[in-house]
Amino acid sequence: MSLKQYVTLGRSGLRVSPLALGTMTFGTEWGWGSEPAVARQVFDGYIEQGGNFIDTADGYTNGKSEELLGHFIAERGLRERLVLATKFTFNADPANPNAGGNGRKNIYRALEGSLRRLKTDYIDLYWMHVWDMVTPVEEILSTMNDLVRAGKIRHFGFSDVPAWYVARAQTLAEKEGKERLIGLQLEYSLIERNIEREHIPVAQELGIGLCPWSPLGGGFLTGKYRREGNTGRGEGRLDAAKFSQLTDRFTEHNWRVSDALLEVAKQLNKKPAQVALNWVARQPGITSTIIGASNIAQLQDNLNALEFTIPAELRKRLDDASAIERFHPYTFFEAGIQNRVRGENPVSAWAPAGRQPDASPEKSAEKAKANAAEK
Ligand SMILES: NC(=O)c1ccc[n+]([C@@H]2O[C@H](COP(=O)([O-])OP(=O)(O)OC[C@H]3O[C@@H](n4cnc5c(N)ncnc54)[C@H](OP(=O)(O)O)[C@@H]3O)[C@@H](O)[C@H]2O)c1
Repeated sequence: MSLKQYVTLGRSGLRVSPLALGTMTFGTEWGWGSEPAVARQVFDGYIEQGGNFIDTADGYTNGKSEELLGHFIAERGLRERLVLATKFTFNADPANPNAGGNGRKNIYRALEGSLRRLKTDYIDLYWMHVWDMVTPVEEILSTMNDLVRAGKIRHFGFSDVPAWYVARAQTLAEKEGKERLIGLQLEYSLIERNIEREHIPVAQELGIGLCPWSPLGGGFLTGKYRREGNTGRGEGRLDAAKFSQLTDRFTEHNWRVSDALLEVAKQLNKKPAQVALNWVARQPGITSTIIGASNIAQLQDNLNALEFTIPAELRKRLDDASAIERFHPYTFFEAGIQNRVRGENPVSAWAPAGRQPDASPEKSAEKAKANAAEK
């Protein structure tokens, strides 16, 4: 699969590369990330290989990421060829509660700033960055609808949001004939699989494309960090001192996932980062995976991550090592209970792909027989 095998995002006509370029690393303002010259190489490398989907946010590196992108895009005259995505939500003036959040007032303020820094007069995909826990979904929907009508944005999506909020937004938009969401952006990787419970199913059900972020867990899934002592810390952004914003990735569970990843990568003769990215990008429901790279060598490794297939038995090794905790009510949607619900009916007759406890109808029928025999 290459960057030029464009896929439509959600139920829309917007065509995007299967790997999007994340630009949270453009600029060193956060104490990590790349100098402008390196960011430029990463941007050029992605574009030259056919990539068209760029992800940024108004607050990344305090606005520097958008500024650099605006400059790179304008200089090469690339605006029309790119799908440019940015985000609003984070507060730009702590003294002013309306300079942050998802209310209409902040959205208009944030959008004007992004358009200015990006040197453009429209955004292709405008993301609500984080659920603010207060703004009614109707206010966001009508604002997005107005912005599409005004030609300021082409599409919109939600990032870091509960699944019930997405379901409510999309259902209302459909019923009221408003612009619908076309994308969901959430953390997803071998060390963060919680969105499999609610978010991936809601996206599949409601025609929304899923764009995972931090597919390498911020660099954890590259093999450069080691369990023993602090060896490796200091090489990348997960250095404890630099990584205070997000959860510590150095947990026992994550080390077990990393052990399995290193083993699988060795057997495939691929880099761990490539195997970890390949796993995310090929999961059911995933449309375009947002990659990050601090330099051109990392970018090249990552762009080659879709050129191979992980054999089923090795994929299972990764699935098993990274499995998420089982709890109620999700245990009732697993094969044990669902086969008692279905009897001998083939699973594929009524469950959407990616949501079947057993992928093969034969396996499911066998289990149903075994269950019946047990009774
Ligand atoms: N919506 C949201 O809330 C949200 C949140 C986070 C990110 N995002 C988006 O998602 C994008 C990607 O996130 P992310 O940067 O956290 O992704 P990631 O792929 O998990 O981490 C990328 C980092 O891992 C390291 N790395 C990448 N490839 C490597 C390789 N081949 N070998 C060794 N190290 C490698 C580099 O960091 P070091 O060199 O420092 O190790 C790189 O900056 C962001 O740029 C942003 O656009 C969105």
